[in-house]
Amino acid sequence: MSEDTFELSFNDSSLGEQSFYKRHVGGNTFADPTSRDLKSPAVQVARKAWEDRTVSEYIGVMGMHYFHGLLVDVNAPMDVQELALLCVLQEQQHCRRFRGIASHLGSSGQLAVPIDELSIQRTDEPLNVQIAKYVFGTLFCGEQIALDLLKWSINQVPDSPYRTAMREILKDEVLHTQMGTDLLTQMRDASASWCDYPGDDWVRQFLGEYIEHMLSRNIVDAEEAACFEDPAQSAQLLELGIPNTLAFKEQYLVSVENLKSKTDRFLN
Ligand SMILES: [Fe+2]
Ligand SMILES: [Fe+2]
Repeated sequence: MSEDTFELSFNDSSLGEQSFYKRHVGGNTFADPTSRDLKSPAVQVARKAWEDRTVSEYIGVMGMHYFHGLLVDVNAPMDVQELALLCVLQEQQHCRRFRGIASHLGSSGQLAVPIDELSIQRTDEPLNVQIAKYVFGTLFCGEQIALDLLKWSINQVPDSPYRTAMREILKDEVLHTQMGTDLLTQMRDASASWCDYPGDDWVRQFLGEYIEHMLSRNIVDAEEAACFEDPAQSAQLLELGIPNTLAFKEQYLVSVENLKSKTDRFLN
């Protein structure tokens, strides 16, 4: 994550607790604090990891919100607009679910958010290019990496309520990834297109820039990596739904690399 951050509060109002609203708002299965020692290194590291996951999901909320705004502006087909809005809600629910886990592990809900990753700024590029960047960069590529890592993480950790929370968002992430492929296919098929496709060469060039950016990100938390060097703490982290840091990084690099073959298959 970037160095420049600001604090946001990830809390609930009491509205969602009122019976009138309760059925419209996702529940919190982690309402009670953990009985584990909140000061133990493993719990502190796990708390930070779930806070980071919360922030990543909120970045997803902001991204999907931006995407829906673009779709409204170009008067995209109604079903596509509705799906984008569903994605906003799903990312919001993922964010709240993971915040619930972080709070259960002692988080205050006051989280540092990276400024440069949080919101996507509109540019003066044509709207079809801004849409293509989101569909290809965020949905086709970014959601694929997120889905790969989620599936991998679920397989790395033992069964627990933390693992269940990850399993419960899996089908949503499948939807987000699939929308990337299917929307790009629609755009590429000029006869059915509601948004001009910027071309295969554009996609290839953008993929190169995207991969370069993804490889430049620092995704290893030094404290988390240190904790995994201790067998007892490592076992606790796995129980708390956190897979081994260095293995996670390796899987991340594999997922980024796999985007090349995924894009080749799509374009051929
Ligand atoms: Fe998500
Ligand atoms: Fe997603």
